[in-house]
Amino acid sequence: MKKDLLSVNDLSKKEILDVISLAEKVKKDPRKYYLKLKNKVLLDIFEKPSLRTRLSFEVAMYQLGGHTIYYDLSGSPLGKGKESIEDTARVVSRYVDVIMARLYSQDDLLKLAKHSSIPVISGLTDYEHPCQILGDLLTIKEKLKKLNNIKIAYFGDAKNNVTHSLIFACSKLGIKLSIACPKEMQPLSSVLGNSKNVEVTQEVSKAIKNANIVYTDSWMSYQIPKSQHVKRVKILMKYQVNSSLMEKAPKSLFMHCLPAMRGEEVTSGVIDSKRSIVFDQAHNRLFIQKAILLKLVK
Ligand code: CP
Ligand code: NVA
Repeated sequence: MKKDLLSVNDLSKKEILDVISLAEKVKKDPRKYYLKLKNKVLLDIFEKPSLRTRLSFEVAMYQLGGHTIYYDLSGSPLGKGKESIEDTARVVSRYVDVIMARLYSQDDLLKLAKHSSIPVISGLTDYEHPCQILGDLLTIKEKLKKLNNIKIAYFGDAKNNVTHSLIFACSKLGIKLSIACPKEMQPLSSVLGNSKNVEVTQEVSKAIKNANIVYTDSWMSYQIPKSQHVKRVKILMKYQVNSSLMEKAPKSLFMHCLPAMRGEEVTSGVIDSKRSIVFDQAHNRLFIQKAILLKLVK
């Protein structure tokens, strides 16, 4: 049966660790994998913008010997509402070997996967960003040399795809996660419901205590209208990652999925500091995408 990657919550601890371990192997000896996906075709469907996800998947596929087709939904019958997701899925499944889709709605992604006979990978929805978090775990393992007995502190907008995937991953792996966010921007209760080792607080000083990793994300995720910018900045400023916050966990490393808005969720002083690992984090998207493709494409 085909396997999809739609949510971190669908993965077991072993599956998470296995994909990270394959990414490590691919990174160490890329040539060994050069032709593993020869003649395979990936379709990238985008409803929202992207730099990292689009490029890392395209480069990954190219370096594995396959090919990628980029498909912007704004110019398609699906995006214009003239063709259903179900029909699109059935047609596409007959041309290509795997789909990576960045959509607004997780329900649309689930529908796409349900009616596709080929693997479907989430390239982010409003609800989750699984490839990001798998890549981040690879980065954390590289930097801290372990994934156990660690604490991640997340600051800012937590009603957010990256936070949701982080919650699922930390629960599965036994990583302590402390989330500091405004009351109105807490993770969805459906995500928090069965989580383990996760605390949500409004107190920045509580979350930062003993953190190994400090993580934040944009306050203006792709789907949030510009008209909310001023209001959100006002509410979220208390959760900005700046040097005085980083001083409270002096050995911690800084992570951000990017794109970052300097001066909002993080200051330039932090993102450009030696403790920032954001570009290694972005680089590792390439290796985790390769591992995901190798695991799913048969
Ligand atoms: N982190 C991430 O997914 O970046 P893009 O939106 O540029 O793909
Ligand atoms: N939460 C962000 C992640 C970007 C990679 C967004 O959805 O825009």
